[in-house]
Amino acid sequence: MYRLREDTKSDCHVLEFTKRHDGRQTRADALRDRNHLTRSLRLSHAVFAIACCVLYIWVNSNIQPRFIIRVDTDPSIYELTRVVREQQQMIDYLSKHPKIVFRCPDDEPTIKYPKQATDDLTSIVLDTTDGCGDTPADAVMIVHTAADHFDRRGRFRRTYSNFTNTSPYRIKVVFLIGQVESAELSLKLERENMEFGDTVLGVFLDTYHNLTLKAVMGYRWLNTTCKDVKMVIKMDDDVFLDVRKFFNTYWNKLSNSVKTNSIHCQVWEHAVVGRTGKWKVERGLFPNSSYPFPYCAGFFAIVTPDLIKQMYSYGKKIDFFWIDDVFLYGMVPAAIRGVHFNQVGRKKRLITDSYMDYSSCVKKRGHEGCPFWAVLTDGRDQFDAEYSSLFQPKRLVPLNNTETKNSSKVVKDQPKPVMHGVIHIDNKKP
Ligand SMILES: *[C@@H]1O[C@H](CO)[C@@H](O)[C@H](O)[C@H]1NC(C)=O
Ligand SMILES: *[C@@H]1O[C@H](CO)[C@@H](O)[C@H](O)[C@H]1NC(C)=O
Ligand SMILES: *[C@@H]1O[C@H](CO)[C@@H](O)[C@H](O)[C@H]1NC(C)=O
Ligand SMILES: *[C@@H]1O[C@H](CO)[C@@H](O)[C@H](O)[C@H]1NC(C)=O
Ligand SMILES: *[C@@H]1O[C@H](CO)[C@@H](O)[C@H](O)[C@H]1NC(C)=O
Ligand SMILES: *[C@@H]1O[C@H](CO)[C@@H](O)[C@H](O)[C@H]1NC(C)=O
Repeated sequence: MYRLREDTKSDCHVLEFTKRHDGRQTRADALRDRNHLTRSLRLSHAVFAIACCVLYIWVNSNIQPRFIIRVDTDPSIYELTRVVREQQQMIDYLSKHPKIVFRCPDDEPTIKYPKQATDDLTSIVLDTTDGCGDTPADAVMIVHTAADHFDRRGRFRRTYSNFTNTSPYRIKVVFLIGQVESAELSLKLERENMEFGDTVLGVFLDTYHNLTLKAVMGYRWLNTTCKDVKMVIKMDDDVFLDVRKFFNTYWNKLSNSVKTNSIHCQVWEHAVVGRTGKWKVERGLFPNSSYPFPYCAGFFAIVTPDLIKQMYSYGKKIDFFWIDDVFLYGMVPAAIRGVHFNQVGRKKRLITDSYMDYSSCVKKRGHEGCPFWAVLTDGRDQFDAEYSSLFQPKRLVPLNNTETKNSSKVVKDQPKPVMHGVIHIDNKKP
């Protein structure tokens, strides 16, 4: 009736047992089941001795364990058997459900996460001073930035917030920040908001385990504040984007079909779930070894505005998962269903998270010859190098004071400089 096997998918030990057909469970049956279980536990002594000391029971799907028995002492077969014997309730439960999985304590998340990114967790404490901007922008850039990254925000203000650098395109830059424990830093953030008016401060603590709250807050802000945006660009605060190249060589050339219901990013498919390091996901949190849905590398993503409302409503509704890329640009679109993913990273080579790759391409083929228009930098020197190579005054077309409230349209309608006939090469010798 019971059988212990290795579950190759989750590399866990799974105890399976066959379901009774009549569905009725007498006390005698339960006792027999218990004896079977005990015997089977004894038989697989060796396996248990491998230090698995948490017992899970999973129901049907692999999603959430519903019943956990912790064995705090040395997980000897005696201990496990005793625990199982004590748990008449569990034995009854077992008779109705087909799977038990043994896990190690290491598989349990140490942080208690919220069940959902509910509105009380994504409340906005301080908002932008001009809403979504006084002038309609071609794109709203929502920037995930850590509270103390004042220098990176300064770089972004000099770059994307300055129309001189992005004209004829206008970008509305908004920084998403959380709470900090230091009173001094908190005051600095308040002053920054007063001075620039481009930060949105959430109620949550600004930690990387709370990034999903930051991401959902971003869509909440967009949904309430930005009525007629043309595009949402989500970026980390260390990404360099060549705004003109992006519009001229990519966005303006797209067909209308991918300008709705679409996410453009470096798409990962069947990505392996990380089990070590800073972004470790415990098996108790996500048991499968890979993500069964596509998702975006979070450093850069374009979301079409028709999706804002759904990104927000599903973002606060579905089960919380703390890795914001996987959650907001994977689980949420999967829940919305039918969202189109447009690959711009990896082999497409339009964006990259490898600055090495980017700079060696630029070195070989120049900025014009290189397809990339966005790259992840160190947020310091590499960003500055890109900034100065692209936005040096000599590269700017003089605007002749046409910058008005309507400037993005006015400038766009101006004819492009005609080049033929201007350059005259005279090879003839006098
Ligand atoms: C925008 O950039 C231009 C050129 O780099 C600079 O002259 C100007 O002062 C900047 N404007 C603001 C508001 O920073
Ligand atoms: C996330 O923010 C909440 C406050 O909203 C805080 O209580 C919690 O500790 C934070 N979580 C992490 C993992 O930092
Ligand atoms: C995990 O993998 C199983 C089997 O491949 C699949 O049926 C299930 O839907 C997956 N669950 C999740 C949450 O991805
Ligand atoms: C988004 O904003 C609209 C208009 O302000 C509002 O009616 C709607 O409830 C919001 N969506 C969600 C999911 O809260
Ligand atoms: C800007 O003004 C200068 C001098 O007034 C003129 O030579 C130039 O053609 C103008 N450029 C544009 C794009 O209008
Ligand atoms: C903006 O441009 C439109 C059409 O080009 C025009 O009707 C409108 O008056 C302009 N608004 C301002 C503030 O210049």
